[in-house]
Amino acid sequence: MPVTTAQPSSSIHHSPIFDELRAIQQRHRYLPAHELRALAERLDVPLFYLQGIASFYPHFYLQPPARAEVRVCDDMSCHLNGAATLLRSLEGRAAALAPGEMNVRPVSCLGRCDLAPAIVVNDAIYEGVTLTDGERLVENALNGTPTPLLVAPSRVRVAIDPYATPADRYGVVKRLALSGDCDGVIATLKVSALRGLGGAGFPTGIKWETVRNAPGDQKYIVCNADESEPGTIKDRHIMRHAPHLVVEGMIVAGLVAGATHGIFYIRHEYLEQERIVKEEIRACYAAGLLGDRVAGSNLKFDLEVFVSPGGYICGEESALLEAIEGKRAEPRNKPPFPALQGLWQKPTVINNVETFAFATAILARGPDWYKAQGVNGAAGSKFIGVSGHVKSPGVFEIPMGITYRQLIFEHAGGPVQGQQIKAFAPSGPAAGYLPASALDLPIDWAAMQKAGSTVGSGAVVVCDHRACMLDMALNAVRFFRNESCGKCVPCRVGSAKLTELLAAWTRGEHGPSDAVLVDELTHALRLTSICGLGQVVPAPIQTVLTHFKAEVDAHLASRRCPAGICQAGVRA
Ligand SMILES: Cc1cc2nc3c(=O)[nH]c(=O)nc-3n(C[C@H](O)[C@H](O)[C@H](O)COP(=O)(O)O)c2cc1C
Ligand code: SF4
Ligand code: FES
Repeated sequence: MPVTTAQPSSSIHHSPIFDELRAIQQRHRYLPAHELRALAERLDVPLFYLQGIASFYPHFYLQPPARAEVRVCDDMSCHLNGAATLLRSLEGRAAALAPGEMNVRPVSCLGRCDLAPAIVVNDAIYEGVTLTDGERLVENALNGTPTPLLVAPSRVRVAIDPYATPADRYGVVKRLALSGDCDGVIATLKVSALRGLGGAGFPTGIKWETVRNAPGDQKYIVCNADESEPGTIKDRHIMRHAPHLVVEGMIVAGLVAGATHGIFYIRHEYLEQERIVKEEIRACYAAGLLGDRVAGSNLKFDLEVFVSPGGYICGEESALLEAIEGKRAEPRNKPPFPALQGLWQKPTVINNVETFAFATAILARGPDWYKAQGVNGAAGSKFIGVSGHVKSPGVFEIPMGITYRQLIFEHAGGPVQGQQIKAFAPSGPAAGYLPASALDLPIDWAAMQKAGSTVGSGAVVVCDHRACMLDMALNAVRFFRNESCGKCVPCRVGSAKLTELLAAWTRGEHGPSDAVLVDELTHALRLTSICGLGQVVPAPIQTVLTHFKAEVDAHLASRRCPAGICQAGVRA
């Protein structure tokens, strides 16, 4: 039976399903069957539908959890910082306890890649966790003693912020509300050539113009703050330090596109950023910048926060819309694109956090200012996260056009004492790995494309010579396998098959047709996957085969891991 969830009729424009499920889980620590039955009746949806949703998102428990529920991130940056050892040690501890006491599982990237390794204990996230810290956290959870979380650093001013003081903020909205010059906004964005900074790089001015020109009395603006790809931490930084630029970008997009409602879609692991963004929105309502008369005009724009039920696939724009509508986050077939048929089938602007922040800065300071931020012939500036094997991981605001070497050595402190860089991933797992000889490539869209790679979401992960590149390829492919939504067969089966095969390679086990199989899977995944996740599954191993073939061959020909990693037993 096909089930549709009704669009809420009140001023809230997201489905109530996840708020309800979250409230139940907060009361019981899991979703008891009787509560699901009662909720199905209350929402007038079949029970199987609720179960189908709850089982899709790993954040929901359908069985009572253990007294200490532990999740360890073992994705790229955490893996490079000892997460596999931490995971094994905690699993050993759990095995020695009675059933129901402690449960340990891996979890996908928690958005704390600069503070690796990160773990979750009973829903609280802890960063930079050593083996001793892990023991203490578990001990406290078993005793029911809360462990304090790290205090977040205070807010700093980002360099792109056009406003000297808080009183100057929202100048672009105020000017636009007065002038009504929406065409001017679109023209400015087009001249600036601002492109989407969530990874795909679509021109922002054209997207806003498409939604503006689309027919319809109801349109939406959605901010994509799902940020769940290993190494990607820039949006967390922007929301903490410059939430006003993002919220202002959304309001301006609303006025320009003729949308009266916006949804700020944020991953559930970003509790601090959720609080900051909600505070910013409250302040905007109080100042008359949101609501029925934006900045004294007769234009209306409301903004709500939607907390993601979780998973990397939720960042894919159409999957994200499905989640807001109370469904499993399975990407839609495209076209139609969200600009014409998005949330609740209405024209929708979806942009990344950083894109909205830059739109505000460009509209305040002008396209020439933006272009002049770049160096060596590149235009603009960008926030880039650097993590992995570096002295000072973090998020850096850099001019486009500097080299990856400058980024890593001058901003992130270079490799740790006595080590040399072996490889780096320019964009998390999605673009695979480049060798140290590529460090002199400029951080520039065109140059990176010419080099067969991409600036992507600005998630640089650095590996020094202690890393095994076959192990790192397996780690990245495994992430995609874990996060595949399973909607299409090539991605669901292909990512599992590739993970299995690479895990066997790390043990030196291989068959005569393995290389052909890898190429066939690569071809099928690239051509037939519905969304971008499936298309990039092969990138990590293909780039490792291109740049680090000798290292792979050592595993296959002599069952030897030159870095001494794979002998320790790599997990698939
Ligand atoms: C699997 C997958 C995950 C994605 N995750 C994100 C994300 O977390 N944040 C984001 O802004 N874009 C993400 N994207 C890209 C979005 O689909 C979309 O292109 C983007 O939000 C558009 O905004 P932009 O034009 O400002 O970049 C993802 C794409 C895929 C295929
Ligand atoms: S490519 Fe993978 S993640 Fe994307 S829709 Fe298909 S199964 Fe889902
Ligand atoms: S928090 Fe572990 S890789 Fe991002």
